Amino acid sequence: MNVRALPGTAAPGPIETSIDTSLPPEGYVLYCTESGIFIRGGSEAGIFYGRQTLDQLGPDVPCGRISDQPRFGWRGVLLDVARHFMPVADVLRFVDLMAFHKLNVLHLHLTDDQGWRIEVPGWPRLTSVGAWRTESMLGSRQHGIHDGTPHGGFYTTAELREIVAYAAERHVTVVPEVDMPGHMQAAIAAYPELGNGFDGPVRTSWGISPHVLNLSQETLDFCRQVLDHVCDVFPSKLIGIGGDECPTDEWPGGRELQTAFTARMAEHLAGRGRRIYGWDEILAGGAPEGAVIAAWRGEEPAEVAIAAGHQVVCCPDVKLYLDYRQSDDPGEPTPVGTLLTLEDVYSYEPPSSPLVRGAQANLWTEHMESLRRVEYMAFPRLCAFAEVVWGPADRDFAEFSARLTEHLGRLDKLGVNYRPLSGPRPADGRDGAPGHPRTLEDRLAELREMTAELR
Ligand code: ACM
Repeated sequence: MNVRALPGTAAPGPIETSIDTSLPPEGYVLYCTESGIFIRGGSEAGIFYGRQTLDQLGPDVPCGRISDQPRFGWRGVLLDVARHFMPVADVLRFVDLMAFHKLNVLHLHLTDDQGWRIEVPGWPRLTSVGAWRTESMLGSRQHGIHDGTPHGGFYTTAELREIVAYAAERHVTVVPEVDMPGHMQAAIAAYPELGNGFDGPVRTSWGISPHVLNLSQETLDFCRQVLDHVCDVFPSKLIGIGGDECPTDEWPGGRELQTAFTARMAEHLAGRGRRIYGWDEILAGGAPEGAVIAAWRGEEPAEVAIAAGHQVVCCPDVKLYLDYRQSDDPGEPTPVGTLLTLEDVYSYEPPSSPLVRGAQANLWTEHMESLRRVEYMAFPRLCAFAEVVWGPADRDFAEFSARLTEHLGRLDKLGVNYRPLSGPRPADGRDGAPGHPRTLEDRLAELREMTAELR
């Protein structure tokens, strides 16, 4: 952002906007003068971002000129609506908060072992059975505590279209994900013929289900039908097919079967003019040409993807998983993962390569049972992340911190339940839902083991 301040206060009144294609598509120039306010944008998106900046300046806008443009085209957030269902109004509210921070990709994690959230024509049991579980875990799986309370919900096609349209108006692309061929226990609970003999319920524990899709022609057809519907609802050029953490124990072969499966799905989507977006596990054995990789298991998968010529979105867990604990204060709700402070997020820097499209922060919701909890975990770390992907590579945390205090006032006006910089309030804790904190050393060693199959 380049700011030139001038004396005086801008005249209130209508804002004039125009498109200037000499600017980058998402870039803008905001002129605040005593005779009026003008926004030139490289496209409608640029004008939109100029307006966001203007909104943040408040009612008495000082005169001056701001020219601004993002560093990355993919400024994403993953929202996991599978582990905890989030009503449409809450998703829309979250989109508003994303747009306010100039974030532009909502990776919507629609299905998992613990719940299936998208209605699919011809497969009614996916939602009548797969969208509901009898109870949920309270806290990390190591403690084995369940709440005894049913949980569930799903989005109708009309609701998903509403989310897509609402997001598009705010220049946010919704990239849907149906995780396959693992993380599929909810679908298999609905249609046991998709599995390998498992005939049980939607998973009520966190963690990875061993029950995965079989790879019969019928099951591949099911996957194609689901993806066809996903393409009908979501205009995104990229369609998420997951691919993470798929145990192979139920299969007659190993990882090569998943590689072949992923290739079939990519081929099918290519026929509809779409490309796959998959977790870095799909690099094992070679990902299909054109696949965009969500590199979550550290820096190594991003390097492997780049070396293979794939575009990458970086979302390393120890840097950008916002379900990980924000401090070691005992009052933090369900502390899991490694310590991930506001400064840790602010200091994250993606590898430098033209194949890096950007980065995304991931909000896995095992331990976020409400929008309030999501906001607590997301903010203010998402404010820091927004600067990582929009602002320059050379950033100064002290300078950011000074500006953040003012920004938290804006979040107060919006009623955002952000984590106070001073630490959790008594009501922020989650009694009865204990966590499982990890050390960075342990987690990095584990990741190194997990990514061995990419070497
Ligand atoms: C992931 O965290 N399993 C992508």
